[in-house]
Amino acid sequence: MLFDSHAHLNDARFNIDRRYVLNALEKNGVGAVICAGYDIESSEFALKIANENKNVYAVCGLHPDAADDFCEADIDKIRLMLNDKKCVGLGEIGLDYYYETPSREKQLILFEKQLQLAKDTNSKIVIHDRDAHEDCIKLVKKYGVTAGVFHCFSGSSEMAKEVVKLGFYVSFSGVLTFKNARKAVEAAQVVPLDRILIETDCPYLAPVPFRGRRNEPRFVAKVAEKIAEIKGISESEAEKITFENTCELYGLEGIKNA
Ligand code: NI
Repeated sequence: MLFDSHAHLNDARFNIDRRYVLNALEKNGVGAVICAGYDIESSEFALKIANENKNVYAVCGLHPDAADDFCEADIDKIRLMLNDKKCVGLGEIGLDYYYETPSREKQLILFEKQLQLAKDTNSKIVIHDRDAHEDCIKLVKKYGVTAGVFHCFSGSSEMAKEVVKLGFYVSFSGVLTFKNARKAVEAAQVVPLDRILIETDCPYLAPVPFRGRRNEPRFVAKVAEKIAEIKGISESEAEKITFENTCELYGLEGIKNA
């Protein structure tokens, strides 16, 4: 069984067939999914979906895109969500320097507030890092938060090594299957097997040969295939190991042999 460790089933692009996609998970070989929030509304929705579906879990948090209009009360709301029994972590949080807005200053304020929250609540964090590798590493070090994952990893193999050394897991998405994915492949080569997670980040980033389509959890099989190829192991081994790694990170021992 596959574990899609990062999916946005709360996204509006699933409004048309969310029930169907959820019901078909097991049939499609997907044993479990983490549904990731990115603002208050999507985090609440992720929790709702998780509570209504046995093998779906949620992470709740404020994505850097939310940095312009968050308020202190939002941090308190996320703090409360972390108490939910189906909430397994704080995310996705981080920094995105690809676009000019929200400003870096505002993103940093929001990220630091949530790193403090992670520290206070002993939460696992899910980091969104785009073109902000240095600052992400600097800040997780500053707050001493070392339990979590760099999702949709886009850094170099050097950075991957550093992230692993700090205690983090590294999650690879469909990007790994793209023709120009040399950097991601190199990173996957150096991350030890017991620290690798796989994800779709659906509805975004559909892997080859589904590129351009709406992504969905079952396509995570293509990422597992690629990991198997890179690591020289069988696809079923890649599935099993990444499933167990995700359980290990989020303390989901109960579903390990699902
Ligand atoms: Ni995401």
